[in-house]
Amino acid sequence: MKFIIDTDPGTDDAVAILIALAHFSDEELLALTTVAGNVKVDVGTRNALRILEHANRNNIPVYKGESTPLNRDLLTAEWVHGTDGLNGVGFPEPSKSEETLGAVDYITQLLKDSEEKITICVLGPMTNIGKVLSQNPELSEKIEQIIFMGGGAGFGNHTPVAEFNILVDPEAAKIVLNSGAKLVMMGLDVTHQAISTKERLNKILETDTVTGEHLVGLMGSLAELDIVKEKFPDGTPVHDAFVTAYLVDNSLTKGELTNVEVEVDSELTLGQTVVDTNH
Ligand code: BDR
Ligand code: CA
Repeated sequence: MKFIIDTDPGTDDAVAILIALAHFSDEELLALTTVAGNVKVDVGTRNALRILEHANRNNIPVYKGESTPLNRDLLTAEWVHGTDGLNGVGFPEPSKSEETLGAVDYITQLLKDSEEKITICVLGPMTNIGKVLSQNPELSEKIEQIIFMGGGAGFGNHTPVAEFNILVDPEAAKIVLNSGAKLVMMGLDVTHQAISTKERLNKILETDTVTGEHLVGLMGSLAELDIVKEKFPDGTPVHDAFVTAYLVDNSLTKGELTNVEVEVDSELTLGQTVVDTNH
């Protein structure tokens, strides 16, 4: 399997990336591509480089992606992830820079040139992939699957009905969901099963490693907010981790094939994923 991770790191993005780094080689994980979302793209790109630096995996290239959604102003979430995007967790300064090619050009080229199909993990707004597929719709055939964290069957988190990643760039999500590529959606209904309980955090701390400490710091980013404690008394969801954990072990969750569409017009329900659970 060959795959890339498209991401806006982001505390839970960082957990997801660390899971992938622990399980896959540089021949499998081809690149990290970044996008504006949780934080501005420059901050997120630096975070991607910092995570690779920590893991001693600087051979994996980072391509900086789009700085704004396709048709809208950027909405960020520093209140969740901290102004640095990583909740102040002490990842090192990067010794390497991002590549000169941009993420959209890189992904386009990768799909065009690759003899085997590529899996794309999307952990942020779908701006990069949406742009690639709107410019070259035929490239959907070169995608093995797009596994994405976004949306939810029946509820949202940033508004009553919209999940953050989809709300930031609903037009891009619409392009991707209509592209014909095989899609695996890890919506909030799925990711709310990935809870950072005290028991789990303690187990991670017991590894007595710097990575373990970092993971616990990342997963603690929301835990102290009253509004969050009320809703998630046992710990907070680590949304993006579900995407790469699923790559490691696809028996972690079950799904069904169904139609999903994105609301792009309504003021009230903008960014809602309408999941046809009735078929
Ligand atoms: C998603 O939004 C972001 O804040 C997280 O990184 C995750 O990708 C959850 O709604
Ligand atoms: Ca994310």
